[in-house]
Amino acid sequence: MNGAGRSAGGPAAVASSARRRARGGPAATATAPPQPLAAAALRAALGHFATGVTVVTARDGDERVFGTTANAVSSVSLDPPLLLVCLRDESETLAALLAGGHFAVNVLRAEQDELARRFARRAAPDTWAEVGHAPGHGGAPRLHGALATLDCALHDVADGGDHRIVVGRVLAVDHPDEHVDPLLYYRGAFAALTATTRAPRSRA
Ligand SMILES: Cc1cc2nc3c(=O)[nH]c(=O)nc-3n(C[C@H](O)[C@H](O)[C@H](O)COP(=O)(O)O)c2cc1C
Repeated sequence: MNGAGRSAGGPAAVASSARRRARGGPAATATAPPQPLAAAALRAALGHFATGVTVVTARDGDERVFGTTANAVSSVSLDPPLLLVCLRDESETLAALLAGGHFAVNVLRAEQDELARRFARRAAPDTWAEVGHAPGHGGAPRLHGALATLDCALHDVADGGDHRIVVGRVLAVDHPDEHVDPLLYYRGAFAALTATTRAPRSRA
């Protein structure tokens, strides 16, 4: 997992196998079937991929609001404008967005870690207490003070193992022009940009 190229099946092995194939020789054959990867090992490895933090919100058919902290978010396409978010099968927010057909991706700013923690717990009667919000395009809640918000219409849902890959068509966006520090997530903890990475572009 750590130390690329050290394991028998790492990049070095792949490269030499490719060279053998290019010369017309046989590809290397694995001697033992790969062991199933433990969830903890996968989580630890992917934890090195630093991400921003969002709260994905939705309104169900009964106008109830739901939200979940999510960092499995990615841009997909510019034309049409698509993004994706991966939500676990049991997610209440997933059920709401499937029912309502819309969702919003609220990107959090550096000082909103409390909000991230709040929406990382199962929904409770006070989850939305003192959380300012208003419906965006499509009706999903836009959180007041979020760094950026992307209102989406449900475009597609794909199988993603124990998660669903939800593809949204972006209807409208909202973000500041000036620099505002984002909330980050790295190796299982909230993090912030360092002074170096915050340097203005002209000095980079
Ligand atoms: C930083 C962070 C990122 C998370 N990212 C995701 C994610 O991308 N997808 C997901 O399904 N759960 C994610 N979670 C866990 C959910 O926020 C948590 O399970 C939540 O209680 C689910 O609420 P829901 O049932 O409304 O979805 C994340 C939690 C944290 C703290």
